[in-house]
Amino acid sequence: MATENNKCLLFKRIEFSEILPVWQCLLWPDRESVIETHSAMAWPCSDNPDEIDMKIFEYQPTFWGAYRENKLVGVNSGHRTTLSQYRSRGIWVDPDHRRQGIAQTLFALTEHQAVLEKCEMMWSMPRISALGVYQTHGFICQGNVFETETSPENIYVKKDLI
Ligand SMILES: CC(C)(COP(=O)(O)OP(=O)(O)OC[C@H]1O[C@@H](n2cnc3c(N)ncnc32)[C@H](O)[C@@H]1OP(=O)(O)O)[C@@H](O)C(=O)NCCC(=O)NCCS
Repeated sequence: MATENNKCLLFKRIEFSEILPVWQCLLWPDRESVIETHSAMAWPCSDNPDEIDMKIFEYQPTFWGAYRENKLVGVNSGHRTTLSQYRSRGIWVDPDHRRQGIAQTLFALTEHQAVLEKCEMMWSMPRISALGVYQTHGFICQGNVFETETSPENIYVKKDLI
């Protein structure tokens, strides 16, 4: 009999309408602000220190899903925040399917998309509780720990792509 570990995983692009319920109910259940396709937050450590930039909504977002036996068991998304910077946003893996490398594959797909879109770096702002998973993918920390609407302790991370 097949164990969870060797049941086939399928990774594919999904729509915002598919990722939204996962984000709403499972990743950010206490969030009060509307969850949109993009975040307008810019990378704060660049030459342009404006933290909010509505032009970000002009970039095309990409949503990724991991499926096991037709069940959505992991998600992530990404979009440019400038012509050369790419944000990884909203990674989540079903508790029954964690510690099997699903997040690493979702990061790899997100990074591949960033490279296709000619970005030089990828950034995110993980919860401290998930930081190790980001570091395993090669993200490095930048700046100090800060609070957000969805987590008391977050930190900026980045990975150079060239
Ligand atoms: C953070 C999260 C996305 C990680 O997903 P995941 O698929 O379990 O991550 P991975 O399997 O790629 O890596 C998790 C750990 O499992 C380990 N691992 C990977 N494959 C493994 C395997 N086959 N056997 C045992 N351990 C393994 C990794 O080394 C990693 O260890 P680390 O934390 O010491 O780096 C998931 O725990 C989650 O959804 N958490 C709640 C939501 C959340 O916090 N999201 C991030 C918001 S910023």
